[in-house]
Amino acid sequence: MPLLEIENLTVSFQTAGGQFTAVDRVSLHIEPGEIVSVVGESGSGKSVAMLALMGLLPWTATVTADVLRFAGQDMQTIPKQELRKIIGSKMAMIFQEPMTSLNPCFTVGFQLTESLKIHLGLNRAQRKARAIELLELVGIPEPQKRLSAFPHQLSGGMNQRVMIAMAISCDPQLLIADEPTTALDVTIQAQILDLLLKLQKEKGMSLVLITHDMGVVAETAERVAVQYAGQQVEKQPVKGLFSSPHHPYTQALLNSLPERSDSKILPSIAGVVPGQFDKPKGCLFSPRCEYVTDHCRTTPPQIGPESFGRALCHYPLKDGKPTNYPKEEAK
Ligand SMILES: Nc1ncnc2c1ncn2[C@@H]1O[C@H](COP(=O)(O)OP(=O)(O)O)[C@@H](O)[C@H]1O
Ligand SMILES: [Mg+2]
Repeated sequence: MPLLEIENLTVSFQTAGGQFTAVDRVSLHIEPGEIVSVVGESGSGKSVAMLALMGLLPWTATVTADVLRFAGQDMQTIPKQELRKIIGSKMAMIFQEPMTSLNPCFTVGFQLTESLKIHLGLNRAQRKARAIELLELVGIPEPQKRLSAFPHQLSGGMNQRVMIAMAISCDPQLLIADEPTTALDVTIQAQILDLLLKLQKEKGMSLVLITHDMGVVAETAERVAVQYAGQQVEKQPVKGLFSSPHHPYTQALLNSLPERSDSKILPSIAGVVPGQFDKPKGCLFSPRCEYVTDHCRTTPPQIGPESFGRALCHYPLKDGKPTNYPKEEAK
């Protein structure tokens, strides 16, 4: 049985400019102990999808899904009290910005022991011992001393380690890491990724790694879902995705990897992810796609429920070339 089942998750926000669909029919299955990556540029709805799963979105959000199940429990009908027991213990999340996720007014020790009190009901001495053990586990030197430090007294990398310690404090079955290294220096990024992978292995937990960096995907995940403007455009095992991407967006992301480029200038994808007011009528990627046709501009591509290994594209790529491509469009 999959640990996490998401089918056709859709999130729309009520805004001053009307309804805005930030997540559009996203599906994801995660097996126990598996690492899955969700990749896509900023604004693709990666964070919103995960926050929806955890019930952490503001009231302006409308969340619907055919299936939203964690460890066999229906997250849509589960009583609030039960949900609160799961979030932060069985299912935990690490956020992009450690400095905004930690409370600047409380010591590291206090923040770390709060969830131990709430979720595990440990007494004071047990909490302190466990907090020290956790800080040691995430590689913080002199953990005893660090307990009384405030977040601003630690570096970004150390704070992110504290966040990870908090996230794993109740031995979650599922850890969602939302761009856990984006705010950090490059050298620290690799350390934090290594730490996450080490903990994932040791604890046998499932890991959802959200990133905008294909390089991170290559080093970590087994399966990847590529998300663009709220839609999943492609899902594949990592190997297949790198050797044979089916969606032009995936291909463009891969082409912007330094190691894949032989030119002196790093290729980037021109344009930005469409937001509320510039959503194209047809395929959402059409304004930025090098293979775009009139058909793409007017007709949104559809994908069946069995979407694994397929792409949300009228002319999915095979061996780097679009298939069923109209002759008159071929350059
Ligand atoms: N509370 C909100 N109200 C309205 N729009 C939102 C809200 N939160 C996020 N969005 C919009 O949803 C889209 C997806 O955001 P997000 O999930 O943060 O993207 P990502 O994590 O992929 O960078 C963005 O266009 C963002 O502006
Ligand atoms: Mg995000």
